[in-house]
Amino acid sequence: MSEEKILDFKTLDVDIQELITESVAAREMAYAPYSKFKVGAALRCEDGSISTGCNVENAAYPISICAERVAISKAVSEGKRKFSAISVAAEPAHGSNYTSPCGMCRQMIAEFGDIPVFLTRPDMTKIQTTSLREILPFSFALKTPENGVQS
Ligand code: THU
Repeated sequence: MSEEKILDFKTLDVDIQELITESVAAREMAYAPYSKFKVGAALRCEDGSISTGCNVENAAYPISICAERVAISKAVSEGKRKFSAISVAAEPAHGSNYTSPCGMCRQMIAEFGDIPVFLTRPDMTKIQTTSLREILPFSFALKTPENGVQS
């Protein structure tokens, strides 16, 4: 990532600290008996609430769903469509210091606009900060009120 920023948890705003903490807690709920790779996500909604998610795997592997898409689907199903930040919690993925959203999740986040993305390991000491636009440049979108374009 071009503008990689690693910050101490303690230096972040309290509401971001809360979001990160919620993503780590959500990770504990992961149902990942196949990969054993637990992921948690926490999405800050415009009304201030937090929607959490964890990965939910299935014996028919492709049916599995990532933590980020669970968090977004839960929020949207509760009438929330505007989001201000997301945190993703996992052990580091292969070849990197942090786990960042997979391509499918990036596209799903993009549907609702460019937001800050916080990546944390379960110990929450150092946090990688990035943005949806940075991890998914040239993303595909159509005009909707949710992504900032009034219809
Ligand atoms: N996973 C997520 O939940 N989010 C990501 O951003 C990366 C991958 C899940 C999917 C699967 O259950 C497990 O991690 C291993 O790929």
